[in-house]
Amino acid sequence: MKPLTECHVLVTPTSYGRNDARLKSELELLVGKVTYNTTGKPLSSEQLQGLLPDVDGYIAGLDVIDSAAFSAAHHLKVIARYGVGVSNVDLKRAADLGIVVTITPGANSKSVAELTIGLMLNLVRPIIYAATSTHKGQWPRTQGVSLEGKTVGLIGLGAIGKEVARRLGGFDCRILANDVVVDRDFADSIGVQIVDRDILLNESDIVSLHIPALPETQGIVDAAFLASMKPGSYLINTARGELIDEGALFEALDSGHLRGAALDTFVKEPPGGDNPLLSLSQVIATPHMGSHTDGATNAMGWMALRDCLAILKGEEPAHQVT
Ligand code: DGY
Repeated sequence: MKPLTECHVLVTPTSYGRNDARLKSELELLVGKVTYNTTGKPLSSEQLQGLLPDVDGYIAGLDVIDSAAFSAAHHLKVIARYGVGVSNVDLKRAADLGIVVTITPGANSKSVAELTIGLMLNLVRPIIYAATSTHKGQWPRTQGVSLEGKTVGLIGLGAIGKEVARRLGGFDCRILANDVVVDRDFADSIGVQIVDRDILLNESDIVSLHIPALPETQGIVDAAFLASMKPGSYLINTARGELIDEGALFEALDSGHLRGAALDTFVKEPPGGDNPLLSLSQVIATPHMGSHTDGATNAMGWMALRDCLAILKGEEPAHQVT
C-alpha cells in the first residue's frame, strides 16, 4: 500500500471546505497531492477521464462517474461521495474494480428538509414573485394558500422525509406518508399517517419526494402518478431528477392539473435553458442546492474526508456502500 504522503486525492464538490478551511488544509497536509475541481460545476465523464489516471482517492460531488470514467481510474481505491445519493456512480463497476464507495448519511438531511419547507412556502405563498415585483416598484395583491388545514404527502419517510415531517409539525397541517419500509414509532410520535400511495396522491395538496433514485424508482412520477394527484395540488422534488418524467410533469402543469412545482433537481443538471419546465412561471427551479448550507457542507466534508483517508490508510471506513 502506498504511503498517504504519496497519494493523490481529487476533490470535486465545489462547496468542499467553503465553510471550514481546515477541510482543505488538513487534507493537503496529509496527502501528497490534491486536485480541486475549478470548473464550478459537477464534472462530466470525459473531464473525469482526464483527471482520474493517477488519482488514489476521490471526494466526489455529483459528477458523472460512469463505466467510461472508471476505465481511466487505474489507481483509484475510494470514491467518498459528498452526500447520500449514489445514482451518479456506476456502483457495479466500482464493486467489480474493488473500489470502495462511501456516503455521508444524515449529514445533509436537515438542510434538505429546510429547503423543502422553504420551497413549500414559496409555492403556496408566491413570495419570490411578490418580492421581485416589489423590488420593481410594483405592489401586487397576491393570493396565497395557507398550509394550515392542508394535507402534505411525503413519498419517502427516511432520514430526509422524517426531518420534513418534524418541521411540518408546527404548521397545523395533516401529514401523510408512504414508504416501502416504515418507522411506525416515528410516524406515531409525529402524527404522520401512513397510507397507500394512491390515497396519498388523491388526498394531498402538496406532494414532496424523499426517495432515492434507484432502478425501481426511476420515472416513478409519470403521467399516471400525476393524474392521481389532486387537481390544483403542488409537487416538490428535492431528491433526484430521475424520479420524474419531466415531459409528463410539463403536461400536468401546462394543463393546469397541477398548480405548481418546485424542483431542486433535474434529469440533466444543469437543465439548460431549453428544458420546457423552465418556461413555466408556476415552476420554482433551484440549482440542486439542498445541501448548500454551512452545517451540511461541514458535516459532509468531514465525513467524506475521514472515509477517504481511512481507505487510503487501509482502515475500515464508517459509511461504506460497496
Ligand atoms: C446528496 O446527498 O446526494 C445530495 O444531492 C448532495 O450531493
